[in-house]
Amino acid sequence: MPKWLKDAIFYEIYPQSFYDTNGDGIGDLQGIIEKLDYIRGLGFNALWLNPCFLSPFMDAGYDVQDYYTVAPRYGTNEDLYRLFKEAHKRGMHVILDLVPGHTSDKCKWFTESCKHERNQYSDRYIWTNYVWQRPYEYPLIAGNADRDGCYMLNFFLSQPALNYGFKDITHPEWQMSYTDKRVQATFDEMMNVMRFWLDNGADGFRVDMADSLVKNDEDKSATATLWRRARAMFDKDYPEAMLVSEWCNAPRAINMAGFHCDFILDHHNKLVHNASRNIVNGVNKSYFCKTAHMSAKDTFSCYLDELKQTKDNGYMSVISGNHDTPRISYTLDETETRLYFVMLLTLSGVPFVYYGDEIGMRFIPQPSKEGGYNRTGTRTPMQWDNTKKNLGFSTAETDKLYLDVDRTKNAPCAVQQLQDNGSLINCVRELNALRHAEEDLQADGDMQVLVCEDSGLLCYKRGKNTAVAFNPTDKALKLDFAVDNVLYCVGKITPSGKGTTLEPQTAVIFKL
Ligand code: NOJ
Repeated sequence: MPKWLKDAIFYEIYPQSFYDTNGDGIGDLQGIIEKLDYIRGLGFNALWLNPCFLSPFMDAGYDVQDYYTVAPRYGTNEDLYRLFKEAHKRGMHVILDLVPGHTSDKCKWFTESCKHERNQYSDRYIWTNYVWQRPYEYPLIAGNADRDGCYMLNFFLSQPALNYGFKDITHPEWQMSYTDKRVQATFDEMMNVMRFWLDNGADGFRVDMADSLVKNDEDKSATATLWRRARAMFDKDYPEAMLVSEWCNAPRAINMAGFHCDFILDHHNKLVHNASRNIVNGVNKSYFCKTAHMSAKDTFSCYLDELKQTKDNGYMSVISGNHDTPRISYTLDETETRLYFVMLLTLSGVPFVYYGDEIGMRFIPQPSKEGGYNRTGTRTPMQWDNTKKNLGFSTAETDKLYLDVDRTKNAPCAVQQLQDNGSLINCVRELNALRHAEEDLQADGDMQVLVCEDSGLLCYKRGKNTAVAFNPTDKALKLDFAVDNVLYCVGKITPSGKGTTLEPQTAVIFKL
């Protein structure tokens, strides 16, 4: 396990929208370098960059055309190496986004694979033998290549599935076993990609759709054997590099596949605060919403269960949001957001904050850009300074911007919030500082639930003697013990008899 993960707090950057230094209207790697001190100053010591490789950008870069080359719109490979160096100088780590399940249909591997003549890429994607061989239970595309056959998709139309074989073979004429030599070359190549970037200074990878590799792999055990190979390579040659999976099933990702961390997303875990799924028929069902009155027991049972199962093997990663979710501010008001940050930054595991969530950037519904669809509103440019053109994101004319900045009144901006002691950004900065200062609160500190009630009242102990209590509701709730030694508080607590009243919308971090 990389040692630095214990105290890592990640900041996710969607490079398109972070900071444009050459005035072309789109963010770039130099922009990230110039903002490292801002990020470090807030207490984030690790970065995850969304894909920054050559791509036709039909899915914002999750359609990779060349895994070994930085997209010219962001800069050069040398710029990325420089970013690694500058980050390391500041005690920060940088992970890249690895997309192993599919490539762009413009990737040379795919265009070669489409050829009638057999070549070294013929088996790199999943093909049937004839164009008429097209079982409808699979997402197969017919009539788009000279090769006589259909190819399988992994996500959008532009993203053909790489071939890692099948576990349960239902069509032996064209499905290869995942143990077949011909498909093993695909994962070998992904290992080469990882080695290439790690050798040049990257500190690991966030792995896109990590569970999607081997097909017909119901229990994911075949896919896990591949990741175990990657983990063995990391343990041997890159012991301080990390792998975090988009798997959303920590027991499988961590215990079975060997990932260091797995994201908790919105598939089945109610802990995720901001998922659109928390708004059910127009009613906000988030635990942090003051009028929702959600049960703490119900909210946390899945998280606690997965935590128990994965303890000592790896970390779960809770997020403030990401490039696929609505912005945190879409579901929660500012106080609710602060309560959420208290939880995010005091849970065990490795937390991730999405750029702009530290200032409460808004979700701005708009037409799709680069395959974003309803996710586009979450991907608008970072708001740096309201005294500057385009809020400091870029000097380009408005019609040249990758996406327009938030032009609504009082759009939150980093510079202005930093000057205001009571702002959201300063709340996040203080919570990050507390997590760095208190070992109890870090990734591997024990987590023990002290109170977890249907009323919403929750209190957990971290590490030796640090505790965190929440009352997210609009009614006062009472803990039956005293809270004296307060480290941080959102809202208000009042002593009452032997206990402590948590006023509506309160979160408190204290020493036991
Ligand atoms: C998950 C990524 O987070 C998302 O943005 C992307 O569209 C899909 N995987 C496909 O790669």
